[in-house]
Amino acid sequence: MKTPSQSVRWPHFRRGLMGVALVVLIAGCNQQAAEQATSDEPLPRAVSERQEGFKALGAAFKIINDQLKTDSPDMAAIVPAAAQMNELAGQIPTWFPAGTGPDDGVKTDALATVWSDPEGFSAAQTRLAEATTRLQALATAGDAAGLREHVKMVGASCGGCHDNFRVKQ
Ligand code: HEC
Repeated sequence: MKTPSQSVRWPHFRRGLMGVALVVLIAGCNQQAAEQATSDEPLPRAVSERQEGFKALGAAFKIINDQLKTDSPDMAAIVPAAAQMNELAGQIPTWFPAGTGPDDGVKTDALATVWSDPEGFSAAQTRLAEATTRLQALATAGDAAGLREHVKMVGASCGGCHDNFRVKQ
């Protein structure tokens, strides 16, 4: 039940809430503007995030290759690594937003061809994604012999993109 005093106070309370929301909104905008103004590198976070992503891709691939060199590869290690590789391979298209290339003043090993040849880059990404999908299937099936053969194809997919879209190491 509402008391008269509550119904009088409620609009004040609501106005107060709106004020708080407005302050939060303005503070958020200011912070965003400050971040953009103080950063002389456009979108550097996207670059470090993709480099972390590729590092994780390489680390997972190493786990698999190391296991396959042993006489009895540990599928409990290979299965999650293959799943992670497949997941990361699928994310690559989101890792190269406009403004994060070598011509944009960011420090990156990506070549400008990533943005000037989007079809070629997309084909190279698709090739890896198909290879990691098969990798994951072979891992789930516990097929060590099949995996040993298929990792060559996965490695070639990495190299195929690096040859055209990454600074020579
Ligand atoms: C579709 C293209 C493409 C594919 C496929 C690809 N890469 Fe790369 N990779 C790149 C690009 C471009 C860079 C440079 C990123 C940068 O510096 O901004 C890179 C960078 C890297 C790096 C260095 C990350 C760092 O800065 O420390 C590693 C490690 C790497 N890739 C591993 C792999 C492995 C392993 C595979 C295959 C399983 C692979 N990549 C597949 C495009 C690709």
